[in-house]
Amino acid sequence: MKQYAIKGGNPLVGEVEIGGSKNAALPILAAAIMTDETVYIDNMPDVFDTNVLLDALTTIGVSIVRTGRHSVTINGGNIFSKQIEDDNIKKIRAAYYPVGALLGKYREAIVPLPGGCDIGCRAIDQHIKGFRALGAEVLIEHGYIKTRADRLVGTHIYMDCVSVGATINVMMAATLAEGTTIIENSAKEPHVVDVANFLNSCGAHIKGAGTDVIRIKGVKKLHGAEYTIIPDQIEAGTFMFAAAVTKGDLMVKNVIPKHLESITAKLIEIGCEVEEFDDCMRVVCSKTLKPTHVKTLPYPGFPTDMQPQIAVALGLGEGISIVTDTIFENRFKYVDELTRMGANIRVEGSTAIINGVKKYTGAGISAPDLRAGAALVTAALAAEGYTLLDEVQYIQRGYEDFHLKLKALGAQIELVEDQREFQKFKLKTG
Ligand code: UD1
Repeated sequence: MKQYAIKGGNPLVGEVEIGGSKNAALPILAAAIMTDETVYIDNMPDVFDTNVLLDALTTIGVSIVRTGRHSVTINGGNIFSKQIEDDNIKKIRAAYYPVGALLGKYREAIVPLPGGCDIGCRAIDQHIKGFRALGAEVLIEHGYIKTRADRLVGTHIYMDCVSVGATINVMMAATLAEGTTIIENSAKEPHVVDVANFLNSCGAHIKGAGTDVIRIKGVKKLHGAEYTIIPDQIEAGTFMFAAAVTKGDLMVKNVIPKHLESITAKLIEIGCEVEEFDDCMRVVCSKTLKPTHVKTLPYPGFPTDMQPQIAVALGLGEGISIVTDTIFENRFKYVDELTRMGANIRVEGSTAIINGVKKYTGAGISAPDLRAGAALVTAALAAEGYTLLDEVQYIQRGYEDFHLKLKALGAQIELVEDQREFQKFKLKTG
């Protein structure tokens, strides 16, 4: 079982290159099978979730050729089954994306129900509502979503909640439906826009992505394309907050500053200096952080995927901060781990009341999920002494080479297998 051994105390200093967006890559890889022609995708992150999805797609006849660590060609011209049986895909949230893609293209899909991080109830009723509105029958049976349609016909769909997954999934199916579909109360996240741009580059007619009304004029078929995935907003935000937590000076490169506005605003509010360039952001933190109030909201609000990272920073703030997660109700599991490191946080429902402490101290802790895992690493980098962090596979789901990137910025962090290797790390860094 892999663990991170971390010795805290070094500020992160230097330049870090951000990879492609995981949450854009996953639906784009699924959408790439909607044409029989070859699609070339670049800037794909090499992380567990994207690899699991690609492997699952090969089991139904999709041809995948890795042309580099971050590029792939995909050809969905020889798909022989509309049923994905792959066991691993159950572990990832994005398992639901092949449903929209297969349903749109073949009017049929049978895919295992999605898993993903345990951060609260992760319903898929809005996906189902959208597919049904387009004319599909949808059943949940034996752990699978089963859907088929004689015809998919464009319609008016109002989403009862703002859902990234449902917006993208219904948009994919509607792309190859007859007539026009209007999705109201759609999610506006940058990755929703990226998927729409990708589909449009394959011949789709999607307008309004990035606003809360998306209009999709169905087309008969899609063609091949070459596409570069946008930079990962959350990986960038995680490094920006890592600079704040460790009192560092980081140049975060290959980002779209517009996508980081809510993150930047909070960093400035808590006392960091943030400098914006065309495609990079510099974050410098030299003072004790100021407390603040944060509420996670759909884009352009502060992302729920950045909630643990900002809470870790505020845990070292001078005073009381309030963090409310309005998106997922069970996203504070990391608080117990952070408490072992000396944090003073009380959770009441979906709100964390954080009373800042002067320092964290290293401890034996465990990553409860992807983003919380990354946030705990930043806490350990700032902490006094050593931390051994379990369950790093969660972090590897969404961060490519996380510890190597941190190491290049001066962090003392290593991947270890057991206590013996941890002791060796201690001797080396002691
Ligand atoms: C995606 C991201 C995840 C991010 C989340 C919110 C991926 C693979 N994951 O997850 O990292 O934290 O967006 O930005 O892209 N909901 C329903 N019914 C539905 C769908 C959603 O009630 O059918 C609710 C959810 O329970 C949640 C909220 O809507 O409270 C937002 O969920 P959604 O945007 O769908 O998140 P995911 O697509 O699962």
